[in-house]
Amino acid sequence: SSAEKEGFEHFTLKEIYEQPKCVEETVSRRLDNDDYINLDGIKISKKDIENINKIYIIACGTAYHAGLVGKYAIEKILKIPVVTEVASEFRYSDPIVDENTLFIAVSQSGETLDTLAALREAKRKGARILSVVNVVGSSVARESDDVFYTWAGPEIGVASTKAYTTQLAAFYLLSLYMGKVSEKISDDEYFKILNELKTMPNKVKETLDSSEVSKQLAAEQFNNESVFFMGRGLDVYTAYEGSLKFKEISYVNSFAIPAGELKHGTIALIEKNTLVIAIANQENLFQKILSNIKEVKARGAYVVAIAQEGHKEIEKVADKVIWIPKTLDLLTPILGIIPLQLFAYYVSLAKGNDVDKPRNLAKSVTVE
Ligand code: G6P
Repeated sequence: SSAEKEGFEHFTLKEIYEQPKCVEETVSRRLDNDDYINLDGIKISKKDIENINKIYIIACGTAYHAGLVGKYAIEKILKIPVVTEVASEFRYSDPIVDENTLFIAVSQSGETLDTLAALREAKRKGARILSVVNVVGSSVARESDDVFYTWAGPEIGVASTKAYTTQLAAFYLLSLYMGKVSEKISDDEYFKILNELKTMPNKVKETLDSSEVSKQLAAEQFNNESVFFMGRGLDVYTAYEGSLKFKEISYVNSFAIPAGELKHGTIALIEKNTLVIAIANQENLFQKILSNIKEVKARGAYVVAIAQEGHKEIEKVADKVIWIPKTLDLLTPILGIIPLQLFAYYVSLAKGNDVDKPRNLAKSVTVE
């Protein structure tokens, strides 16, 4: 009903705007007064972490993209190798899993059949199962040894938005927690990341406050036959998720790549006015992505860049820039996806699509 939408035209838009609150809930509920993380009673000891020699993160769709960011955060902080894979591949790949494997399932619904089957396979082989789930008491949650709940609340729109940003927050907390317990992270680094994580709800809100830019972009760019998303480092995952959001609700063919791969194929598709969305939020790769933007510009592309405030240089190479508030590179995925969710939403709206219930898709896929 329209009452449930609280004045928003669609659940998808309402859920996009709920993100400051949801990220806030996911984070603040896990912090004690001294800013130590309490993982809802999940007990992972220093010894447990020392015994882990491999971590798998398994999921489908949007949750898989959160898992890719999770891999990056865990490897950076814990220095344990992490493999992130889609559940439908993992379950049939005879994965190398044993008692020293930590298996992390990520799922909004907790009912995705492939994810559940992958979890059972890992369990059979002796892995410890931790899950990052939104729906309390769901199948994935019930079959896990430990559950870390995201506090997104019910997500109705088929295109996942607030579940994603809360899954990202969950991974930052999880890696900080494990880093602290295992003493792999210094106090300085721990508090630097945690204090910045605590600013995310406000920065997500700030990003939403500039929604006009995404709306305007959608008004100009809703008629493309295809859209390309590119990034480097963590921005590759924002590109993947931005592209998925876009194709799900706009029905436009979209493709996302690590920008360094352009010249190995995709650049052949760039012609005059092809829309390329370049995510440029990584300080250490900033010059690299600028070169990639120049490469596509030279072929006539229309480039919209997303960048952290202050990087004026990008205005000289891109046709349009969407700014996100300044933060740590590690945390930019939470902010970088917001304008892309809005862009997908407004294109879908402009095309008259069923935004909340896109054709051929289901909120929860409980069949193979
Ligand atoms: C479906 C949904 C996606 C979701 C994916 C995984 O395809 O349409 O939005 O990302 O399933 O769902 P889960 O509930 O496991 O996160």
